[in-house]
Amino acid sequence: MIQTICCIGAGYVGGPTMAVIADRCPQIQVTVVDLNQARIDAWNDPDLSQLPVYEPGLDAVVGRCRGRNLHFSTAVDAAIAAADMVFLSVNTPTKTKGIGAGQASDLRWIEASARQVAAAARGHTIVVEKSTLPVRTAAVIRTILEAAEGDTPSGRKSFDVLSNPEFLAEGTAIGDLEAPDRVLIGGEQPAAIEALAQIYGHWVPAERILRTNVWSSELSKLTANAFLAQRISSINSIAALCEATEADVREVARAIGADSRIGSKFLKAGPGFGGSCFQKDILNLVYLCRHYGLSEVAAYWESVVNLNAWQQHRISALLVQRLFGTVTSKRIAVLGFAFKADTNDTRETPAIRICGDLLEEGAQLAIYDPKVSAAQIAADLGTSEGWQMVDAPLAAAQGADAVLVLTEWQQFAQLDWRPLAAVMRQPAWLFDARAICDAVAARAAGLKVWRVGEG
Ligand code: NAD
Ligand code: UDX
Repeated sequence: MIQTICCIGAGYVGGPTMAVIADRCPQIQVTVVDLNQARIDAWNDPDLSQLPVYEPGLDAVVGRCRGRNLHFSTAVDAAIAAADMVFLSVNTPTKTKGIGAGQASDLRWIEASARQVAAAARGHTIVVEKSTLPVRTAAVIRTILEAAEGDTPSGRKSFDVLSNPEFLAEGTAIGDLEAPDRVLIGGEQPAAIEALAQIYGHWVPAERILRTNVWSSELSKLTANAFLAQRISSINSIAALCEATEADVREVARAIGADSRIGSKFLKAGPGFGGSCFQKDILNLVYLCRHYGLSEVAAYWESVVNLNAWQQHRISALLVQRLFGTVTSKRIAVLGFAFKADTNDTRETPAIRICGDLLEEGAQLAIYDPKVSAAQIAADLGTSEGWQMVDAPLAAAQGADAVLVLTEWQQFAQLDWRPLAAVMRQPAWLFDARAICDAVAARAAGLKVWRVGEG
């Protein structure tokens, strides 16, 4: 029976995942550790609106458990030493230099944390891969841990390694964790697998806890993200064709989604997928396929990422074209910068590429997002020139030639277009890259309207 858990990495996955485990398993002590002192301080902030991750419902879960059986700390070694089970939930971004740069995952943080577990653990410890990793990473982790196994002054040290990828999506993380479609556990040692299954068994129905071998588990995570991202590139490719043919991508999506073999979810055309996972994980898959000599398979999946970038450039290009071929010195109101609604995360957000293109064309951007900070946008755009942050859609629209909606925040669906249109420079446009706004009302307010996927 697991009594003490340590999770290394207090990010978008480690924080919410451990909060839900602590909430559902009050008898287990859970400590989430991170090297980043500021992040840990934010997790410990008495004001729950200051948690470092914005997720609807997260504040309530943390509020219930923190200080009871959920702890956030930078004392990494002590938490590992006390734990029966250690989750590795560190970042695994795409490598930016060296072998595999631009495709392979950078495993330096996973290796560093595995080494730290090897050194600091006591007794028997189950090490769980929670990060998304290339297939066969568990073999690397096991090799590092095995080197530390054996008799030590504090007793015999041994390890098991499991793969337990996380399928939560940001913005819906708490619901996804509390009622997952499935939990996946890959492993070899039945006792270790059952120890982890027992934890999830406190709230996840038994038939939703899947057990596989380690490599299938690691690969299933990459494959799930590749399939999901592929659907988005597929529908975005059809959106472009709809715009050229007077078809409407929402009607097409409804028609094909009614086929139970296709299903209706994940068929929303938009500015392309963002987020920290899809691109990174597909490129990782592409890299693995090349490594195993499967160049056609690699090219197939790579095209999903290429189409995504194309969609983003297509949107910035069509905006320039509709604004008489130039946006130099024109003010454009950008509504939404986060990669999706209900998150403050901007990693790989389509806004970066689209705003980058518009800045390159000399536009003046007025950006509004309810959860993203100006400092984050400056870091993402790599400049503080050519754009400003404003605190409301109306302020963004002031004097603008166009409003460009990039994130599907619910408040944009409810915008009253008359006051916005009244302060814009005519002729004025609404470019709705999420097809979330009330296009009829915007047209009635005098705006010209482009919606993604509408012919
Ligand atoms: P993140 O960057 O938000 O958090 C990772 C944290 O790990 C950081 O705070 C970092 O300081 C910490 N860290 C790194 N090395 C450390 C070390 N040696 N010791 C202590 N702390 C260390 O990343 P994330 O979004 O939480 O993603 C984590 C993993 O989960 C990635 O592999 C990602 O692919 C995967 N994943 C993410 C999501 C998502 O929606 N974000 C969903 C499923 C899976
Ligand atoms: C994704 C996976 O869904 C999740 O299972 C995995 O654990 C992590 O990666 P996330 O990136 O947080 O989650 O959000 P998701 O809802 O998948 O959206 C990813 C991107 O696709 C967003 O930019 C979103 O706007 C876009 N998207 C999603 C669409 O453009 N259309 C859709 O129909 C769905």
